[in-house]
Amino acid sequence: MLQPVPFSELCWNVFEWIGERWMLVVGGTRESYNMMTASWGGVGVVWNEPMVFVFVRPSRYTHEFLMKYPSFSLVFLPEAFREILEVCGSRSGREIEKMKLGGITPLSLEGGAVGFEEAELILTCTTVCRQPIEPLSLLREDIRRAFYAGGDYHDLFIARIEEIWRPA
Ligand SMILES: Cc1cc2nc3c(=O)[nH]c(=O)nc-3n(C[C@H](O)[C@H](O)[C@H](O)COP(=O)(O)O)c2cc1C
Repeated sequence: MLQPVPFSELCWNVFEWIGERWMLVVGGTRESYNMMTASWGGVGVVWNEPMVFVFVRPSRYTHEFLMKYPSFSLVFLPEAFREILEVCGSRSGREIEKMKLGGITPLSLEGGAVGFEEAELILTCTTVCRQPIEPLSLLREDIRRAFYAGGDYHDLFIARIEEIWRPA
């Protein structure tokens, strides 16, 4: 059973949780959603409000949901659910129906964002700003070569953290 907790309880290592454990970016509503694995992003303060930022390539199916629905969630699953993260990070919702993935139980959170009962942590968010990464604004050539040889530059989504959910 998940419950909202005060922001002061979010005391975690972002490099470990996002960079190593990974997260699901879940866009859409309980009736129609899609999710993808992400290991890039962060949490901070922008415009004096608590924000997350995530990088999503326009080619991702999840991108369509983030464009259509202002609410989305970042879901952190326990290590035992690594396989779900691997599937959601290697297969597109255009090929497989991610809503039908077994082992995780979707639920609708306040604001309409979708979470999963099994999560260890969920941040529900509302997009405030979407900014395509412009090729000319990228100053490092090695990054351009490593990540953008085929174009498909990420969009940066900056989103207000509405609530933090943890198991009771
Ligand atoms: C560990 C890991 C991290 C990833 N991080 C990102 C990311 O931050 N941004 C992104 O656009 N894609 C990222 N991906 C790739 C997407 O998860 C992958 O392309 C996925 O199949 C997209 O699914 P969709 O088309 O259903 O949205 C990552 C994949 C893995 C395995």
